[in-house]
Amino acid sequence: MDRLSIYGPTRLKGEVTVAGAKNSVLPILAASIISDKEVVILDCPKLLDVDYMLKIMTMVGCKVKREGSTVVVDSSGVDQWVLPDQLVKEMRSSVILLGSILGKLGKVQLTYPGGCEIGLRPIDLHLKGLKQLGTIINEENGHLYCEAKELVGTDIHLDYPSVGATENIMLASVFARGRTIIRNAAKEPEIVDLQDFLNVLGCNIYGAGTSTIYIEGFSRINRVEYRIIPDRIVAGTYMLAAAITQGYVLIKNIIPQHIHTVLVKLKECGCDVTNHKNSIRVRGKGRLKAKDVIKTLPYPGFPTDMQAPMMAAMSVADGTTVFIETIFENRYKHVQELVRMGAQIHVDGRTAIVKGVERLNGCQVTAHDLRGGAALVLAGLAAHGNTVVNNVKYIDRGYDGLDKALNQLGARIDRISCV
Ligand code: UD1
Repeated sequence: MDRLSIYGPTRLKGEVTVAGAKNSVLPILAASIISDKEVVILDCPKLLDVDYMLKIMTMVGCKVKREGSTVVVDSSGVDQWVLPDQLVKEMRSSVILLGSILGKLGKVQLTYPGGCEIGLRPIDLHLKGLKQLGTIINEENGHLYCEAKELVGTDIHLDYPSVGATENIMLASVFARGRTIIRNAAKEPEIVDLQDFLNVLGCNIYGAGTSTIYIEGFSRINRVEYRIIPDRIVAGTYMLAAAITQGYVLIKNIIPQHIHTVLVKLKECGCDVTNHKNSIRVRGKGRLKAKDVIKTLPYPGFPTDMQAPMMAAMSVADGTTVFIETIFENRYKHVQELVRMGAQIHVDGRTAIVKGVERLNGCQVTAHDLRGGAALVLAGLAAHGNTVVNNVKYIDRGYDGLDKALNQLGARIDRISCV
């Protein structure tokens, strides 16, 4: 497994361009299965999770071509409804294939999905919604067998605005007879991106971005060429990288509105942040000031995916910040690693109290999940001496060349390949 060796402290300076969003491209790839015509996806990031997704899609019968950041999918030959256990366990987002394959083939079998260890991550809301559309679900030996002779549109109220459940129900219900309404739906920009993609494909969906989504299925399917929205979490990570290093960085290909909460917080922490139509400039002005409370919430609240990178920044801020993680129950695994670097953090359940220290010191740390891993890289940029981040595979799941991009901004990061 690869490791990153980081020499700090560094002051980042320059420009960086953000790639397409992981959390958009994965459901949109799953959605491309709906089509019998060629789907061209532009700005597809080069990520481990995308590799896993394309592998599973190939195994169910998709023909996939990938050249640079363009992916061409032909799903006309999809005929396999049993998803491969090992790959499904590798990546939680594989569960998004449930809705589209079920809709297309009338049945699907999969094992419980895996992914980062950040909490229990059940899929009860996905299954409840699919059942309401007329799916019969049986569980045997750790496998879910789902079958629907006919999906029928209905009114679904999600007990929680789950991103994945909203997407899965959207994908299955485009095949349903009649109209489906999803209430208390997730409002994340990636849901809007999925709706936009499906509408270009020929579906009739509206309401995404609000808590009620209406899905009316499709009458005809079009050939599609579609560009994925920029990754707001990657953008936010670069913003924090600029802030923690007291650097000066222009982040390009960004939709500022999507990362508004982080932008506001950084300003409150004393950074100079200017946003333009498609870019944001962050200038760190001396030591960051701590924020009183940062509470993660569904969009448009502070994103749970930014909690760990923000904590890295606050660990060297002037003052104390209280983090409250409301989305995932086990998302503080980076804390023990930051503490090894000299951070002062105390965790009690879903609350973490971060007392900013003057400096962090480089040492060996281990990534336990994707965003926690990115947080350790940010801490390594600011720390004095050499930080070695183990388990880089987690970071590669969601960042397209994070180390290379940071090096272009002046960081000193070596990737050490281990077999
Ligand atoms: C997506 C994102 C992830 C982000 C998260 C929250 C993708 C590929 N991943 O994950 O990066 O951190 O949204 O913004 O888009 N839950 C249930 N039952 C369910 C589904 C979810 O209890 O059936 C719970 C989860 O355990 C979690 C919370 O709801 O505590 C949020 O999960 P959800 O919004 O579904 O996140 P994901 O779609 O897994």
